[in-house]
Amino acid sequence: MSTPVLETENLVKVYGKGATRFDALKGLTFEIHEGESVAIVGKSGSGKSTLMHLLALLDEPTSGVVALGGEPVTALKPKKVSQLRNATFGFVFQQFFLNPNQTVLENITLPLKIAGVGKSERNRRGMEVLEQLDMADKAKNKATNLSGGQKQRACIARALVNRPTVLFADEPTGNLDTATSEIVEDILFGLHRDHGITLVVVTHDEDLAGKCQRRLMMQDGEIHAEEHGATGVHA
Ligand SMILES: Nc1ncnc2c1ncn2[C@@H]1O[C@H](COP(=O)(O)OP(=O)(O)OP(=O)(O)O)[C@@H](O)[C@H]1O
Ligand SMILES: [Mg+2]
Repeated sequence: MSTPVLETENLVKVYGKGATRFDALKGLTFEIHEGESVAIVGKSGSGKSTLMHLLALLDEPTSGVVALGGEPVTALKPKKVSQLRNATFGFVFQQFFLNPNQTVLENITLPLKIAGVGKSERNRRGMEVLEQLDMADKAKNKATNLSGGQKQRACIARALVNRPTVLFADEPTGNLDTATSEIVEDILFGLHRDHGITLVVVTHDEDLAGKCQRRLMMQDGEIHAEEHGATGVHA
């Protein structure tokens, strides 16, 4: 089998200490291969977001290893880690808000700006992604003037603009109505199917989880079961 795009070994995350110590992840070891779609499911507080933040290199484990393309990340300097994160990952996280006073195009091209891409190339690539998501007509709108579903699509556009290998999504359909959820799901799985993007999705939505090729079921900081095979129509 190919080298996993992401792998963990005995991943542990402890929050706080003493009386307030909380073991959020209790030693997880697993692999995610390039082009896979993986859902992380489980009850509120089971450690899903904590795990995703560690996988996405947004936080550091208390102990254990996250390796990217076979290379342990702990061995790298922080600057190298942020470069890797910006070049390899896209994020659709609810806490990564759009800047309401910037235009949609400015918002979604931010990862390219961080990567040092010049303005005309940024705008060209930004428009390309907005067209892909059927949002080109909103490019010059202030982000504040979008509907909920459009905001979510703008977040996806921003996640895609740097052509990531792995797309992380934390409850991507959490606040959306059924019709908009379906649009967002179609976009995510379309990217997975047509562009071979690796999808890692945290979700309470059984329908969305069922469309992924693999489900990691979390309970109290552990993966207590794993399911293979999509049950939905998309895979
Ligand atoms: N910074 C922190 N300090 C202390 N405890 C934390 C911190 N962040 C998370 N926790 C605790 O770790 C546990 C796992 O949190 P996490 O956010 O990963 O859960 P989750 O599975 O994503 O839940 P949800 O479905 O509600 O989003 C929870 O019990 C939470 O209270
Ligand atoms: Mg969460």
